[in-house]
Amino acid sequence: MSNRRKKILKELDLAPVWRSKSTHPKQGELITAELDEHKHSTSQPRSENDSAAALGIPQMNWKSLESTVSTCVACPLSLTRTQTVFGVGDEHADWLFIGEGPGAREDATGEPFVGQAGKLLDQMLAAIKLKRGNRVYITNIVKCRPPNNRNPTLNEAKQCEPYLTRQIQLIKPKLIVALGKVAAQNLLQSDDSISSLRGKVHDYSGTPLIVTYHPAYLLRALSEKAKAWKDLCFAVSIMKSLKG
Ligand code: URA
Repeated sequence: MSNRRKKILKELDLAPVWRSKSTHPKQGELITAELDEHKHSTSQPRSENDSAAALGIPQMNWKSLESTVSTCVACPLSLTRTQTVFGVGDEHADWLFIGEGPGAREDATGEPFVGQAGKLLDQMLAAIKLKRGNRVYITNIVKCRPPNNRNPTLNEAKQCEPYLTRQIQLIKPKLIVALGKVAAQNLLQSDDSISSLRGKVHDYSGTPLIVTYHPAYLLRALSEKAKAWKDLCFAVSIMKSLKG
């Protein structure tokens, strides 16, 4: 509108000029329309792999991977965590130990396996002459603590999978040790019992994987420690054969 026209309308006491509501969308309508347009113009990720690719996770280095994990809100565990628990150890480890998810102590400190189960894991490592951080990397299926230490859901594990996949690609371990049923079943995409998964060399995308009991379970079922010892000896023999 020209200044001259504005002046005339003001003189006539007809300014400011109101538009009819019927020809102007309400704010809510406009937002909905914009969202609809966005929905139709943006192709939605179809799976965790698509989302991971869209975020560039498969190309990330350690630093960007860890920082992406630390701000992840892909699943409801992000709402209750204190902090993410990325993993700890040698970034070029031969041995990769994978548990299920952080507990209370891990959630408070940001390091995996630092509670009672962690102490037992350290003893298990020492029994086969290994040490946290020295040729060993330790992480979990999910990087945030499930409330009340419940098992992670299938969806939570799926949402977190691209991070673990990238960690494994970066570490290139010679052998993966799945600690407990949750880790084993998620990594092997299997419903089989832990007893049927033990004692075998499985394949995880080209990396040998063996299964043993979770240290937290061993703390409750002391009689199973002998079986875990057998698994560790088996793991050592596999590692020896891998090194030729
Ligand atoms: N249990 C796990 O599976 N992971 C941890 O980090 C601690 C306890």
